[in-house]
Parts: sequence; structure tokens; C-alpha cells
Amino acid sequence: AFHKHPKQVHWSWDGPIGLGVFGGYDRVQLQRGFQVYKEVCSACHSLNRVAFRNLTEIGFSEAEVKAIAKNWVHEVPTINQETGEAATRPAILSDKMPLVYANEIAARAANNNALPPDLSLITKARADGSNYVYSLISGFEDAPADFPADRRPEAPLHYNPYFHSLAIAMAPPLSAGQVTYAEGQPEATVDQMSQDVAAFLTWAAEPKMESRKRAGLGVIVFLLILTSLAYMSKRRVWAAIK
Ligand code: HEM
Repeated sequence: AFHKHPKQVHWSWDGPIGLGVFGGYDRVQLQRGFQVYKEVCSACHSLNRVAFRNLTEIGFSEAEVKAIAKNWVHEVPTINQETGEAATRPAILSDKMPLVYANEIAARAANNNALPPDLSLITKARADGSNYVYSLISGFEDAPADFPADRRPEAPLHYNPYFHSLAIAMAPPLSAGQVTYAEGQPEATVDQMSQDVAAFLTWAAEPKMESRKRAGLGVIVFLLILTSLAYMSKRRVWAAIK
């Protein structure tokens, strides 16, 4: 009874073809969302199914992405060729975004025994995923007055009506003005940043959504033409028979 359904956002890619007509992802929003992911979420969450070079698809130049990869907070594990010892090196374009922790034990050790999931597919792994991620991140609140006292989450757990157990082991990651958006961009409110990062993670999980929708439209148009041709031939073939 305390759970809430995700708040519904009007996304730029909504509808069969997006924006009602031919819209799709809003590249500028995706870039803002990437900024939030990079500056906030990447401290704990990996995005290990996305390669740095994929970021050119959301409008960054190759030089920008090279710099992003090189300066990424987490480096890529490798082996020192001379000593044979484990080492790390800066990421390059073809690398997937590196994992945050060496393994699950290290991840849990750093997070009060909770496991921050990889976010590459999170908007697909949860029902109504884009709205869910947006609602979860922007939806932390105090437990309502009628919430049973013995179930009230205490630190390190936080009450969140969008999370399955209502108590999540992630502190509210965003506060107003946490990231500084470029000149001319919307104000970095918690709501705005949450929408932007949810949009970015939607793209991460389905980078080919736009071409999928376009192909679907093409198929429908093709079938409409084919159907009318079939109908016209049928009329002609049977014209002599009354
Ligand atoms: C869980 C998103 C920042 C630690 C989650 C989940 C999402 C998420 C979608 C999974 C909820 C589910 O399983 O349905 C984000 C986003 C962030 C962010 C978008 C940035 C805006 C952080 C940061 C930390 C963190 C900075 C660490 C300080 C965790 C942990 C969990 C989690 C430990 C597991 C919670 C549990 O299982 O109870 N996060 N997160 N997150 N996050 Fe984050």
C-alpha cells in the first residue's frame, strides 16, 4: 500500500515513432544525462556494456570521447608486460566503461553489503524502466506518518516508495545544483537531473531505438501499399465474373 507507481514523464521518444511523429532521443538531453552519470553515478555504478566510442552517437566528437576515456575515474585492468603483475591503464575509445569494483565482494564491502547494479540495462530490467529510474532517483522522501514504526528504514537504508522493498541501500544521490550544466541548459534541479540521467540510461539500454521505430514505420507503409496492390489485382482478376 505504500508503494508508488513510477511518475510518468513525457519523453522525447514516446509514441510509436517518437514525439508523435519522427522524434527520437534528444541528443542534448542525453549529453546532460551522461554528465550526471559521469559526475555522480559512476562513483558506484558501472556501465560496462557501453564502450566509450558509443558516446559519439549522442553527439560528442571523437576527440571529446578520447579525452573522456583517458580521464575516466576508473582505469582498465591489464597486466604489466615486464613484471607480469596486475596493473591498470587509462581507457581508450574501444574500451567498455570500466567496472567500478574488482568484484562483488569489493563492491559490497564498499556499500554496506548492498550491490550497486551495473546500469547498462537497468531501464530494461525494471518495469516502466525510464520512468522508474527517474522516479527512484527523484523520489526519496520521509516514510509517511502511518508507516509501521518497526519497518522504518534506518541508515544505511533510505525510504523510497518506488523501490521494491521500500528501503534502499543507496543514499539520495542528487541534490539541487549537484552538476553544473553548460550555459543555456535548463537549471540543474533534482527533477531535471533525474530525467536527464534516466534518458541517458534509456539510450544506453537501447541505442538503436530510433532505427527500430523507423524500420517499423517503413514496414507498415510497405504493407499498406502491398495490400492495396493485392486488392486491385484481385478486382481485376475477378472482374469478368459477376
Ligand atoms: C541501486 C541508480 C548513484 C549506490 C541503484 C538502482 C538504480 C540506481 C536504478 C537500482 C534499483 C533497483 O534495483 O531497482 C543510480 C543513479 C545514480 C546513482 C541514476 C546517480 C544519479 C549512486 C551512488 C551510489 C549508489 C553515487 C554510492 C554512493 C547504490 C547501491 C544500490 C543502488 C548500493 C543498491 C541498493 C539496494 O540494493 O538496496 N542505483 N544510482 N548509487 N545504488 Fe545507485
